[in-house]
Order: sequence, then C-alpha cells, then structure tokens
Amino acid sequence: MNDGYRIAVVGATGQVGTLMLALLRERSFPAREIVPFASARSAGRELDGGLIVRPLSEEAIQGFDLALFSAGGSTSGEWAPKFADAGAVVIDNSSRWRMSDDVPLVVSEVNPEALDGHQGIVSNPNCSTMQMVLALAPLHREAGIERLVISTYQAVSGTGRRAVDELLDQSHALLHEREISPPEAYAHQIAFNALPHAGSFAAGEDHTDEERKLMDETRKILDDPSIRISATCVRVPVLNGHSEAVNVQTRRELSPERARELLAAAPGVTVLDDPHTALYPLAIDAAGKDDVFVGRIRRDPGHERALDLWIVADNLRKGAALNAVQLAEALHERGLVQAWRAPSAA
Ligand SMILES: NC(=O)c1ccc[n+]([C@@H]2O[C@H](COP(=O)([O-])OP(=O)(O)OC[C@H]3O[C@@H](n4cnc5c(N)ncnc54)[C@H](OP(=O)(O)O)[C@@H]3O)[C@@H](O)[C@H]2O)c1
Repeated sequence: MNDGYRIAVVGATGQVGTLMLALLRERSFPAREIVPFASARSAGRELDGGLIVRPLSEEAIQGFDLALFSAGGSTSGEWAPKFADAGAVVIDNSSRWRMSDDVPLVVSEVNPEALDGHQGIVSNPNCSTMQMVLALAPLHREAGIERLVISTYQAVSGTGRRAVDELLDQSHALLHEREISPPEAYAHQIAFNALPHAGSFAAGEDHTDEERKLMDETRKILDDPSIRISATCVRVPVLNGHSEAVNVQTRRELSPERARELLAAAPGVTVLDDPHTALYPLAIDAAGKDDVFVGRIRRDPGHERALDLWIVADNLRKGAALNAVQLAEALHERGLVQAWRAPSAA
C-alpha cells in the first residue's frame, strides 16, 4: 500500500473517537481518506478539520481497509462483522468481541504477535486492564505472576461524555449550595463521593462487569489462565486518568529494586517513584500523556513474594484511542491490513 489506507472511524463524535481522529493525524498514519461515522443524530455534523459525519448503512461501509470502532458494544456487535465481511480490519474499543476465541486482544507493547492470526476483528482491551498489563507484563516475564489483588480509582471519562457532564454539573450545583438533579450516569451522586460500583452488576453476580473484564482480559493478554485475581473497581470524582493499587504476588522472588529496573526499561512505561519528595504518579499529570506511570513500588510486608504498585494512565489515551491507533500501526507494519479479506469479499 503506498497511497495510504481508507479508514472508517465509528463513534467519531465521542471522546475516544475524537482522540483517535487526532492521533491518526498526529502520528501521520498512512491514510488516503478518513470517514467519520456516528449515530444518525450526528449525521451531517462537521468535525474539526472539515470531515462530515455519516450515519452507518450497508452502502456506506463498503471499500474500507481499516475501521476503528468506539461506539459501544451493541454498535460493534452489529456493524463490526459487516465491516470485516466487506474487507476491512476492525479495531474495536468495546467489550463486545474481546473474549471471543478468534479475536486477538492486544496491547501494542505486550502481545503484538497475537495480531498475526486475526480474522477481521481485533479488540482493544478495557482501559483499566490496558494500563495494568503494560506494567505487569515485564514482571510476569521475569518472575511469573501467581496472584493479583487490584483496587481501581476510575475517572468518569471512562463512562462517556455524559458522565463527565454529570460530575461537573453536580460539583457546580453543590459548590453553589443548590440541589443536584437525580443522578443518571451512576446509581448515586459522584461529586465528592467514591462509588464501589464501576460497571454494572448482572443478575446473580457479586462482581461488576468491569471487575470481570479486568480479571478475564488480564489472563487472556498475559496468556496465563492460572493467574488468580481479585478486583474492586471504584468510580471516583476524577475527570480523566485511572489510578490502580495493585498487589502482585509472584511465583519466583522479585525485589522492588529489580521490578523498578524492569519497569524503567519497559516500552510505554515511566517510573515515578520517590515518595519522600512526593513523587508518584497522579491522574492529573497523566492526562494527555501517552505513557503508563508506575510508582510506590514496594515490598508487601505481608508476603515475601509480593509487591505493591500504583499505576496511573490517561484512560482515553493509552486506555483506548492511542492503543487502537498503535494497533493500526502494528497491523500496517506486519503487512496484515490488506492481506486480510473475508471470504465473501474476496
Ligand atoms: N472512555 C474510555 O475510557 C474508554 C476506554 C476504553 C474503551 N471505551 C469504549 O469506547 C466506546 C466509546 O466511549 P466514549 O467514551 O468515546 O463514549 P462517548 O463519548 O459517549 O461517544 C460515543 C460515540 O458512539 C456513537 N454512537 C452511539 N450510538 C451509536 C450508534 N447506534 N451508531 C453509531 N454510532 C453511535 C456516538 O455518536 P453520537 O455523537 O451521534 O451519539 C459517539 O460518537 C465505548 O464502547 C467504550 O466502552 C471507552
């Protein structure tokens, strides 16, 4: 391919879609045409750079090489296979296809080789999983992870734009001593609060789907079903940037010093770890940055083979849009874009 790819961005008006469009430009991805899609509500809207939003239809989705999706699980469920059947490689941000056996679930720095067997749809992991496995993969390679105990502190941008508006509206109302409107994005007030309820509870489930994603996706990406994982996902009144406290129990001895060394050398990871000068990763500092930041690396005094880590990243960037664009780059570099053609499109 020398004149670039024809690329669809589905969910182009959303937080992740907007960032994917910007990153395709910033990173000079070889595109000859980019077509933004969103719901019928946004059809005809002009985006920054003059692109006009289109609604999805059988005719409009023909002739693409790549389709980057961030429009929720039901849109991906319906339209990703149609794009793939029409010959595009789909990179999907939703959870719809992540655990399917024939769909690679890929973090660009961790398991890019998983792209090689793709069948037209490739999944981008959940944002909390993405940032965590980037920090865990080098430790797993060195010492083998046996068990993880995870607590997340997740920003409202992870829920979508309406949740960001809700936090701002509630904060403004409360600071002006006004009543807040009934919560819509969450079960309870999010401003000045912490909700042990990131994601949703399916009937009969005592974990949220977000907690299940963190457990299942981590095992799939690290390709180790034996890792035991406990997770509590908490929504906090932070606009952007997820933070995670992770207790990592390894099979073999791993010192905090060696872990720091491995993380400092890991691509896409920056170590910020000098707590005595108040240096550790913060959500407000991670916002807008590409890397995953790790600090508070220390021995768990309760277990001789366990460490504690604090992991922070911009959930919209490495947690979603950046990794999606990096997967497009990896597919391009590995010659896997136009090599793919579904049988019906051949
Ligand atoms: N936010 C994160 O940190 C994060 C991280 C990882 C993955 N994700 C995933 O990325 C997706 C989008 O997240 P977001 O934060 O960008 O959400 P968002 O800001 O609420 O944007 C949603 C996008 O989906 C479009 N859309 C909704 N229904 C549609 C339909 N029926 N057909 C076509 N387009 C439709 C919307 O178009 P309109 O503007 O026309 O409504 C909008 O462009 C979700 O699947 C989410 O799980 C998000």
